[in-house]
Amino acid sequence: MCSCKCIIVTVIVLVVIITLIAVVATSLKKLASDEIGIKYDTILKKLENTTEREGLHTGLPGFKFIKFPSVYTSLTFNHLESLNKDGVKIVLYVSYQYKVRSDKLRDIILEFRDKDGYTKFLRYEGESAIHESCSYFNTSQFAAERANFQEKVKDQIMVRYKKVNAEITDLQVNNIARPTEYESAIRSKEKAREDIRVANNERPRLLTEAETQKREAETNAKIIIDKAESDTRILANRAVTEAQSIIAQYKKEAEAYKKIVEASGLGFTIDGFISYLGVRVIADAKNLVYIGLDSPAKTVYP
Ligand SMILES: *[C@@H]1O[C@H](CO)[C@@H](O)[C@H](O)[C@H]1NC(C)=O
Ligand SMILES: *[C@@H]1O[C@H](CO)[C@@H](O)[C@H](O)[C@H]1NC(C)=O
Repeated sequence: MCSCKCIIVTVIVLVVIITLIAVVATSLKKLASDEIGIKYDTILKKLENTTEREGLHTGLPGFKFIKFPSVYTSLTFNHLESLNKDGVKIVLYVSYQYKVRSDKLRDIILEFRDKDGYTKFLRYEGESAIHESCSYFNTSQFAAERANFQEKVKDQIMVRYKKVNAEITDLQVNNIARPTEYESAIRSKEKAREDIRVANNERPRLLTEAETQKREAETNAKIIIDKAESDTRILANRAVTEAQSIIAQYKKEAEAYKKIVEASGLGFTIDGFISYLGVRVIADAKNLVYIGLDSPAKTVYP
């Protein structure tokens, strides 16, 4: 009888102990060093007012924490395609860090339910902030004003996140990839510009070269003309000299003949003289000469 009672008492004590352990276990919850949270009573469906930090916390049995990170968390957009002001598609790699405002955690939970709902919304807002920023910049500005673009994205995200009680820090635009056709167009434009620059630099050199060639040609022409003139002069002089020497020779012969005539005391007529010249010509001739003359050298005896 007693042993039966004892067993029942023991069982009751055990049940009480187990129940107590269960109650204590469900009324104790822990927050890690990088977490904040608000107590939520799952039975009464009631959300507490205060944001709790790291440590062990007690509450009514069946409560839980709705937890959020207390440190900055990274959000990254890899290969986000967007259109710029010119309607050109660009590919972006952007990342930044965000954190919830702990004093507004209750509002955040009431609006977004939990961390997953909130993160989803922040991601959506971040993406539309980037798209909007892109629409303010044209293609050449993307190349030239990268820092401004990064500032713009940061501002846009800040404004949107402030409304939902998140703050951001350290936004990085890691890469801006322009479409390949655009890249190759830019490259050929730069090449054309370079070619023009080279041509412009070459121009004075080519001009100088052409100028030098022209001067050389002019000098050569002058030399040729001078030589031709000098040759002409030499030829003319030679002709004059020859003519003079021929005249002198004939003069000498005429004088010699005159002397012979005078010395012989013979009176030659003009016919006689011509006849003499005829004999000279025939004597000098290399070929046969046929000639008709009056009978020569009729001596006139006075
Ligand atoms: C939280 O605060 C609001 C007023 O700000 C109050 O109406 C509400 O009862 C409070 N809730 C708790 C659980 O203390
Ligand atoms: C891009 O915008 C800048 C500044 O508004 C402007 O000076 C430039 O002409 C624009 N470029 C093109 C290609 O539209």
